[in-house]
Amino acid sequence: MADMLAVVTGASSGIGLSFAKELASRGYDLVVCSSGERLAEATESIRSTGADVIDVIADLSTQDGVETLWKKVTDLGRPVDIACINAGIGVGGQFWETDLDEELKMVELNCVGTVQLAKYIVRQMRDLNAGKILFTSSIAGEMVAPREAVYAATKAFVLSFAHSIRYELRDTGITVTALQPGPTDTDFFHRASMDDTKVGSEGKKQSHPDDVAKDGIDALFAGKDHVYSHSTTTRLEGAVANLVPGSVKASVHEKQAKPLNEK
Ligand SMILES: NC(=O)c1ccc[n+]([C@@H]2O[C@H](COP(=O)([O-])OP(=O)(O)OC[C@H]3O[C@@H](n4cnc5c(N)ncnc54)[C@H](OP(=O)(O)O)[C@@H]3O)[C@@H](O)[C@H]2O)c1
Repeated sequence: MADMLAVVTGASSGIGLSFAKELASRGYDLVVCSSGERLAEATESIRSTGADVIDVIADLSTQDGVETLWKKVTDLGRPVDIACINAGIGVGGQFWETDLDEELKMVELNCVGTVQLAKYIVRQMRDLNAGKILFTSSIAGEMVAPREAVYAATKAFVLSFAHSIRYELRDTGITVTALQPGPTDTDFFHRASMDDTKVGSEGKKQSHPDDVAKDGIDALFAGKDHVYSHSTTTRLEGAVANLVPGSVKASVHEKQAKPLNEK
């Protein structure tokens, strides 16, 4: 058993599986979660690195699912040193044509489940005054994104949420980092019904999930607020999308939003 424990959601494939392997290679034990049977095979491949891995099948788009995951984590009696809140799905298409139930499930997973799990994790980390949290947002969180309108809004939500709680926790031992990938070669576009799009069909031209995950974990360990990953195009797009630093926006907003009787 290692000294340190990491929780990774959406670890059955793509960026989440790469997070888990990256953290295992850095000596972390893992609790990995996803909603389906694919998790078993992924868990075996992570275990082959030598890490202790506990797998939890839970639908994180439901409150019961998030509670199931959190109970498994707390039953271990070990603090969470790192949490990668990563599970997410997309829905492609014109908003007037896309399926409402699919979009609402996406909001439940990408936004509601993210907030619920973050609440449990932040409270535990606050009690111990230590921990690192990585949220998987997207470059799409700073874009105007026709044909992924609701998806991009969920990622803007995650980005804003991550920056805001990072600022609230600035004087603690807890850091919060947002990973903002560009197009990455995972199951994401297929599951979003976007195989027939340019972005969804470029396969090998997209970033490799291992590179994206490494960028995210490196940024997490460096205590960065966010990182664009992985291609030069994605980094350039990000650089021009964000001309005012997040910490400046946060400081200005906090002055407006804090109680008048608080210094
Ligand atoms: N690929 C890209 O181009 C790209 C770009 C920017 C951001 N992102 C973000 O990266 C994150 C990971 O996506 P990915 O690209 O690695 O796609 P992926 O390969 O499809 O992985 C998605 C992961 O989320 C899990 N998941 C889906 N629904 C779930 C649910 N209801 N409850 C629990 N787990 C669930 C999936 O596992 P099961 O199917 O087993 O449940 C899988 O492990 C997402 O948040 C996505 O928005 C991706």
